[in-house]
Amino acid sequence: MMVNKPPMGINTWNTFGSKIDEKLIMQMADTLVESGLKDLGYEYLVIDDCWSQKKRDKDGRLVPDKNKFPNGMKAVADYVHSKGLKFGMYSCVGTMTCAGYPGSYRHEYIDAQTFAEWGVDFLKYDYCYRSKSTAGVESYRKMSTALKATGRDILFSACSWGHDDTHKWIDTTGANIWRATTDIKDSWKKVKELVSVSNEIGNLNFINCFTDLDMLIVGMRGMGFCAEGGCTDDEYITHFSYWAFFGSPLMIGCDIRDMDEKTFSILSNKDIIEINQDSELNRPYLLRCSDAMIDKIEVPGYAKQLSNGDIALAFFNFSDEKTASRYVTLDMIGLDADIPLECTVKDLWSGEALEISNDTIRVEKIEPHCCKVYRISVKAV
Ligand code: GAL
Repeated sequence: MMVNKPPMGINTWNTFGSKIDEKLIMQMADTLVESGLKDLGYEYLVIDDCWSQKKRDKDGRLVPDKNKFPNGMKAVADYVHSKGLKFGMYSCVGTMTCAGYPGSYRHEYIDAQTFAEWGVDFLKYDYCYRSKSTAGVESYRKMSTALKATGRDILFSACSWGHDDTHKWIDTTGANIWRATTDIKDSWKKVKELVSVSNEIGNLNFINCFTDLDMLIVGMRGMGFCAEGGCTDDEYITHFSYWAFFGSPLMIGCDIRDMDEKTFSILSNKDIIEINQDSELNRPYLLRCSDAMIDKIEVPGYAKQLSNGDIALAFFNFSDEKTASRYVTLDMIGLDADIPLECTVKDLWSGEALEISNDTIRVEKIEPHCCKVYRISVKAV
């Protein structure tokens, strides 16, 4: 399947873990539509682990848990589709899923067939209990082939947590997104940890195979299955901005049925979403604008070329105490001061304009754990 921008949607795991059922999925579908999130691009509704019975049926097929999904998965998929959304499910390369339900090892074709019959549009494929005799790369290729053989377009989401140098082989498997990190938790500490993994692998993104930094924790507020103390609003904004800037899939992880205004305002920031979904998918680059006083690693600045000629800028303050300031000269970001261009700079979180003076953009007061994200509109005059 060809996927030309980072997928957006929602996944059950971060908040609900094993506490999922048909009613919840239907309510999530309703809320995606009614809140306006669907219209912003959040289109995949993905059921994670713990949806099946512990045993396959006599024909070797996966069976939905009868208590959680009494009407079967086709009925759930039909409901999700009736809302104009896409339906995602979960399985695993191993004999069991991470939570101990049947995995797809040696059942790849029959499972792919089952998912296709149910109307699945997205398969997340985990990495637990894998066979010692099969390399991860082979397992992913096998399921990818099995999905294609169904004839249905199913987005293939690999989840091997970056293990076994996933980045070296994942783009040979047909996976459309690949998890580069271990599991996110609802804490600033974990956000920082995942950011450093993203840095280690060079913030890379392949064509048709997007680097997945894991689901979003925005709005979880210390509750739910992956709770770990929660984050402040500023930290949620920094996390969301980073994921968006680096082209990660944007999969909501909070309970949207119960989201507060601030959570919605973060998740629905169109300007930030646009940077994530920009059609050229250019990789951001690190700016050489470090403040002499502060280590560049702690408060990095990045720029990213956008498809219409605009430039996105982002500064992330990962330090705990230091408020930082940054400046960027136009020539650092490919804007030749001698060429007559008209540039305007918009702060994508406050909406305010920022002045360019002496061919320099000065960004003041980036507070600890906060970020600043700008779009420079560039017009020829
Ligand atoms: C983990 C995976 C999580 C979630 C969980 C389910 O391996 O990284 O995102 O899917 O398994 O058991």
